[in-house]
Amino acid sequence: MSRSAHPAGPRHADVLPEGHYSAPPADLNALDPKVWAHTVTRDQDGVVSVGGIEVTRLAEEFGTPAYFVDEADFRARARAWRTAFGHDADVFYAGKAFLSRAVVRWLHEEGLNLDVCSGGELATALSAGMPADRIAFHGNNKSAQEIERAIEAGVGRIVLDSFQEIVRVAHIASSLGKRQRVQIRVTVGVEAHTHEFIATAHEDQKFGIPLAGGQAAEAVRRALQLDGLELIGIHSHIGSQIFDMSGFEVAAHRVVGLLKDIRDEHGVELPEIDLGGGLGIAYTSDDDPRDPHEIAKALTEIVTRECESAKLRTPRISVEPGRAIVGPTAFTLYEVGTIKPLDALRTYVSVDGGMSDNIRTALYDAEYSVSLVSRTSDAEPMLVRVVGKHCESGDIVVKDAFLPADLAPGDLIAVPATGAYCRSMASNYNHVLRPPVVAVNDGEARVIVRRETEEDLLRLDVG
Ligand code: LLP
Repeated sequence: MSRSAHPAGPRHADVLPEGHYSAPPADLNALDPKVWAHTVTRDQDGVVSVGGIEVTRLAEEFGTPAYFVDEADFRARARAWRTAFGHDADVFYAGKAFLSRAVVRWLHEEGLNLDVCSGGELATALSAGMPADRIAFHGNNKSAQEIERAIEAGVGRIVLDSFQEIVRVAHIASSLGKRQRVQIRVTVGVEAHTHEFIATAHEDQKFGIPLAGGQAAEAVRRALQLDGLELIGIHSHIGSQIFDMSGFEVAAHRVVGLLKDIRDEHGVELPEIDLGGGLGIAYTSDDDPRDPHEIAKALTEIVTRECESAKLRTPRISVEPGRAIVGPTAFTLYEVGTIKPLDALRTYVSVDGGMSDNIRTALYDAEYSVSLVSRTSDAEPMLVRVVGKHCESGDIVVKDAFLPADLAPGDLIAVPATGAYCRSMASNYNHVLRPPVVAVNDGEARVIVRRETEEDLLRLDVG
């Protein structure tokens, strides 16, 4: 295949190199509703819009790269989780997926609670008016200051992650003259089917106290003896981007088993269990995520069944979805820069962002899809790798995808499903400025996290 015959690189399935992709999609202009936010559509003129505003207008007004969040979709997903679990359960949105004051207000208005895991997340939540008693405080190494601040603020629960922390939180609470509501995070020993870096319930990792060897039971024994603590429940989080419900079933089974042991040993029935977050979303058309109602039904049924057979009162269940609420509601808009066809390999399409606004591809080998959004094209599909502007060859945003072969510098392309763990894990690598987050709703767009400026960077640089 000579370059002159195919100046834009290889396009046909029979010459494609190895990769994650399947065949090129039948229609490159189509937008799969599985991966795009609810209000994303392609207009008559071929331009994609979100919340009723065309991306070309958004790019003009807010620049690129930028994250655009479909506020109506965010609220709808938050509400769907809330209603799926009903009044006998609590939904704590996991702020680590993406947090800003606007998001805190949306959650508050939609009746969700919030899980935070650092002083910074706690400060954001409190400053946006989330009632402290609806906040859960997590983390495997909370500092004394963070613990003190959380207790003083009156957080609804602190999730204890180690033996040392049991003592530390009890001590700080007592010294403040308070009794803190706590859960103990246990490691249930489940292999979640996900990337190793985001699996958290197998034994050889840093989170939680293992059920194995009676360690969790010992943690409960100690917590029950300390005046500064009110032990309200057991917590388990098995990992992230999980589609298979069986891991949650095993976790629920083991957590209820511990509740039963606690009842037998101490005569105490703990009133709550938290089954964490981790439900997967569609990054590409190949992913099939579950509906929150289906998840709620499955989790509630298993906990109820296990409790009935152990003759326990069914505890109040809580869950902590992050990605499943915010992930699908946003996309990143980029402008195409240089285009570099490599013979018999693929075409490298460089965009004006990269690993600083989406580290997930480099870190977890994550898969994304991408579409041309500023126009339609009838050109044939071209195999591309969308890369950023950073000084690393691992600076890949979308590893393998198809874009039309007439793609040109200045076109706008968008990567869907970037609402979770993209802005929240963004960096300033190469002193690239972090993009803004713009909420779009019903024909209006407003910045909820502004674009970083060079002054922001220089302000931190002392001397
Ligand atoms: N609860 C706890 C205790 C967690 O540690 C996490 C995520 C969640 C809830 C929310 O999980 P989600 O529903 O969002 O999957 N940076 C990685 C994900 C790390 C998840 C950390 N903990 C990624 O980009 O895939």
